[in-house]
Amino acid sequence: MYKPESNDLEVPVQPEVATTPGAQLSVGTERPLKNLRHGGLGSAHGKSILMGEHSVVYGAPAVALPLLDLQTAVSVRASKTATITSDLYTGPLAKAPKELRPVITALRATAHHVGLNIESCEIVISSTVPLERGLGSSAAVSAAMVAAVSNAAGVTLSDSDEFKLVQIAENVAHGTSSGLDAHTVRSLTPVRFQGGKPSDVHVAKPFTFVIADSGTSGSTSAAVNGVRMLREQSPRFVDGIINGLADLAERAMVALGEGNEYDLGSSMREGQEQLTRLGVSAPALDALIEAADKAGALGAKLTGSGLGGCVLALAKDQDHARELIAGFEAAGASRGWKTSLVPSHLAEEYQHPTGHEGLFDNQENA
Ligand code: PMV
Repeated sequence: MYKPESNDLEVPVQPEVATTPGAQLSVGTERPLKNLRHGGLGSAHGKSILMGEHSVVYGAPAVALPLLDLQTAVSVRASKTATITSDLYTGPLAKAPKELRPVITALRATAHHVGLNIESCEIVISSTVPLERGLGSSAAVSAAMVAAVSNAAGVTLSDSDEFKLVQIAENVAHGTSSGLDAHTVRSLTPVRFQGGKPSDVHVAKPFTFVIADSGTSGSTSAAVNGVRMLREQSPRFVDGIINGLADLAERAMVALGEGNEYDLGSSMREGQEQLTRLGVSAPALDALIEAADKAGALGAKLTGSGLGGCVLALAKDQDHARELIAGFEAAGASRGWKTSLVPSHLAEEYQHPTGHEGLFDNQENA
């Protein structure tokens, strides 16, 4: 049986940059802050859990996909006063609402780390990663912020420091956070994650997925608490499901590595069955999964914590993805996106796209 792992990073936090468990960075002695002279840019993307949500909390492996078609960009440039512009809020940095606390934590932590004075910076955030849908929006914005601020300071961060800075912000956003999002939003290839350790997953060929938004947001803490309570009541039942999901995560990774979309699809179907037994599906998600089945998806499952949020479906190819999207739309999905995995041998050369392909959007104000 997998043993729960602690999500805490082992090193203490610098009180001036974070108030929740996080990582100590390799900041040296105090030094004078540099004023911004050039602008800085940073980007990151969304993520979707392919397999292993919930079981990963108990130490089982999970695999998350980078959503390269859902992008976040942050720019930093010199200005008379510190201001921030985003979809949520535009105005003085000092008056930003609490929803922006995680990303402002990323800003301050990175500025402290690279020795940049942010009191005369204009920050502009633009993101196509939807909020509160389990697609990694908070990690993506924080990762783009870390990259933009370090770029503005002319500092190249190590991968490890970059991760730790994003994770400090993620801990503010979600309480103690596993680190899966902070890795995947910066990776071009799928990430295997177990016991706090990430590794790249080999992808033999392009796989095309469609993500459909049920229009309802799931609460990660409510879903995780629900599973924990169920496990307290019925440990053997829940541990059996966790083991099943662990096997499915390994099977999904083998399928990606062998380019076997049929096995990947059937493992996704089985994953959804196990997650339903755990009690984390929801009628709106079930309706979308039924629509995916009707439209001939190779497999479909909820992605993320469940109880709302999104469904991930595997298409046969790009044309079939459009049929899936039509099926989702007819079944009441509020939004949908098509996204493809880049084969490992091409990932290194891959250039980030500048936008996303939002194929439908039924939300009035979106
Ligand atoms: O909905 P998301 O993307 O926040 O995913 C939550 C995944 C869980 O396994 C349910 C919780 C976790 O911390 O891994």
